[in-house]
Amino acid sequence: MAPKVLCTRILPPAAQRRLEAQGFDLVQWKKDTAMPREELLANVAGVDAVICLLSDQINDELLDHAGPQLKTIATMSVGYDHIDVDAVRARGIHIGYTPDVLTDATADLTVLLTLAAARRMKEGIRAAENGEWGEWRPTWLLGSQFTGKTLGVIGLGRIGEAVAKRLQAFGIQRTLYWGRKERPNAVNAEFASLDELLAQSDYVVVCAALTRATKHMLNYDAFKKMKRTAVFVNTARGGIVQQDDLVRALEENLIASCGLDVTTPEPLPTDHRLYQFPNCTILPHIASATIETREKMADMCVDNVLAGLSGAALPFAVPDQPSVLRKFFVY
Ligand code: DGY
Repeated sequence: MAPKVLCTRILPPAAQRRLEAQGFDLVQWKKDTAMPREELLANVAGVDAVICLLSDQINDELLDHAGPQLKTIATMSVGYDHIDVDAVRARGIHIGYTPDVLTDATADLTVLLTLAAARRMKEGIRAAENGEWGEWRPTWLLGSQFTGKTLGVIGLGRIGEAVAKRLQAFGIQRTLYWGRKERPNAVNAEFASLDELLAQSDYVVVCAALTRATKHMLNYDAFKKMKRTAVFVNTARGGIVQQDDLVRALEENLIASCGLDVTTPEPLPTDHRLYQFPNCTILPHIASATIETREKMADMCVDNVLAGLSGAALPFAVPDQPSVLRKFFVY
């Protein structure tokens, strides 16, 4: 009998063709919206493997609906905060993810947001489109540049390091990072306490995973410690920021500007206060959204499922860390 595989969304074209060519008994949500929870719970029953997205909560409820034959969960993401890893592992289910392949795309977009926020791109675009573009003015829409400045990276994993490397090319002189522990790195970044990083950085970029240790760590107190000229960028997970506190920080001009690719919730409702700030640039969680990267991510999911179904070790398995260390995992 063909193995039964549930995939919660259509994959990018090449990976989708490959998935369909496997001869699985394939259950797939074919709309361009998230698979509703009730559909997911109803359709997961009896499947051997699941390909899921970061928007699908993988927890005891889902595992109970699935049944004991489920042995592989492959998420099309590097982040796996939507998966209750301990609950999944307790049932002997293997978890695959998609590390490395999205590092460049995510770092590129992080730099794009940092530049956009630093150079007031949202205000500039709005001014040009709304007829506010008058004669050239020496003091209009002045942003900040990178030459000689300090970058603070919260979570210096693969993506954090790639961001630092790129921003150093723009003239960043000193790079600080905060994380669970000091780690050798290729960007001459100096380990710092969170307080030091917040106080000394001109650009604060979040590249950490959402864990018990990082949840809401960017709160009002943290924003208060930043320079009034600081640019804040988050392309990791919305939950790392206490969002109401970010609103308050912008209202009180505690920071100069911010760029967000992730929010709470996602999608962020169009009437959310954050959209109203001219110095808050928001993108709809598209950091890894290049054709090349998304094809690779989906391909890795298919690889993980094939390995899982054949009883082999997953080629891209979530590391087997004790949960105490997982608290501080970086992408
Ligand atoms: C991830 O993979 O975790 C990103 O947030 C989306 O690509």
